[in-house]
Amino acid sequence: MKWSESRFNGILNEMNTVLVFFLLLSNFQAWSQQEPFKVKVKLSTLKEERELKSWTLEELKPLKYKRIWETPFTGGQKALYAGPRFEGFLDEALKGLPLEQRAKVDLIILKSKEKEIRIPRYLIRKYPAILAVKKGKKRLLEKGPVAFVMPKETTPGLKKEWLPENLYSLASVTQVEFSQYEKYFGEWVLKNRSNPSALRGEKRFVQTCMGCHLNRPIGDLSPYLEKIQSHPQTWHPASEGAPSVNRQFWRGIQSFVKEWVYQK
Ligand code: HEC
Repeated sequence: MKWSESRFNGILNEMNTVLVFFLLLSNFQAWSQQEPFKVKVKLSTLKEERELKSWTLEELKPLKYKRIWETPFTGGQKALYAGPRFEGFLDEALKGLPLEQRAKVDLIILKSKEKEIRIPRYLIRKYPAILAVKKGKKRLLEKGPVAFVMPKETTPGLKKEWLPENLYSLASVTQVEFSQYEKYFGEWVLKNRSNPSALRGEKRFVQTCMGCHLNRPIGDLSPYLEKIQSHPQTWHPASEGAPSVNRQFWRGIQSFVKEWVYQK
């Protein structure tokens, strides 16, 4: 009896040792398989849908960094953000593609787990937007994702654009999509491409109106045509963060809307 009991205990002990060993092994595997955080990059134009290289923090490091003082997304004290210029990142990410394809990208879509924002490409060229990977001394990536900052406080010009406040900053960027306006807003593209004034208006419309109306469809503009013509500066419902724009701007918008209503 005693002998078999102690033998039984011996077997149990051995089994425990084996079990602990396997547990450790599987833990180690899970730990070693944990991937470093990456920003996924995608090309998504009318003709092509393709995953491009995903970027780790290490891979972002060789890009030229810029530092800017900005108020954090969550409000509160200003902080020093640092990271590659967004334009440099875009150039690097699209490097292998033919020029023609690169030139088609005019819309950048940034996604976090909760939210997405769409930014006209011209804005990141005009203003030194960055993909922030550091805030103060803290690496933003240690918590996970990269954050994107549009330097609206340090670039006064940005405030004069007819753009909404706080639309162009996103915390925790997990995916960047290089895309084309036409893909999302094809209905606003003029069929008649022979009226230069209307085409200028189309560009303004896409770059300016869509900044705010991306997630708030404008719908049919026909009912507004008369008001846009008679009260160009005041027809638009008052909305937060919208500075006034000049006459030239509205002339373009007017001819665009006229042409668009006509083609409908
Ligand atoms: C700064 C952000 C912003 C910009 C830029 C902007 N809009 Fe709006 N727009 C709004 C908001 C917000 C409303 C809703 C206002 C309300 O209902 O009080 C609105 C309302 C409208 C409406 C009425 C229908 C609706 O959706 O409620 C039309 C039409 C419209 N916008 C067209 C335009 C056009 C055309 C342009 C470009 C020339 C433009 N918007 C630019 C923010 C903007």
